[in-house]
Amino acid sequence: MTRPDGTAAQRSDTRDDALVDSAVDARRNAYCPYSKIEVGAALQARDGRIFTGCNVENASFGMTWCAERTALVKAISEGCKDFVTMAVATSLPRPIMPCGACRQVLHEFAPELRIIVVGADGARYVTFLDDILPEAFGPADLS
Ligand code: THU
Repeated sequence: MTRPDGTAAQRSDTRDDALVDSAVDARRNAYCPYSKIEVGAALQARDGRIFTGCNVENASFGMTWCAERTALVKAISEGCKDFVTMAVATSLPRPIMPCGACRQVLHEFAPELRIIVVGADGARYVTFLDDILPEAFGPADLS
């Protein structure tokens, strides 16, 4: 897939396979007794580090944490703020896209983040945060 502006950002990264494997592994820690949908995320920092996360549900459903935000918060809390790609893996047959809340939270730190989603069938889809959260509100609006 190529972006309309022809930039090379869509091209595959040699680290994609390892990142997807990390997201699939992270799925195993999902706490999802209510939805039964396991989600794992793996966030690739520019320096090579990978931060993983899973969804963490709660009996008060609205307090549920998505896998993407878990991974991001782990990274920020470890002092890392520069990211290139996130992989998201689910137990559902087909890939799922990051929810609106996760898109907004990711935008704060990585507005051009490359995103790979993968379903249990192994099919991958690659997109970009600025394509799926166009005209976003962000830090620049407050400066
Ligand atoms: N979920 C994620 O972890 N990430 C998303 O982007 C979408 C939804 C989780 C939250 C909840 O545990 C389950 O999937 C069903 O919504």
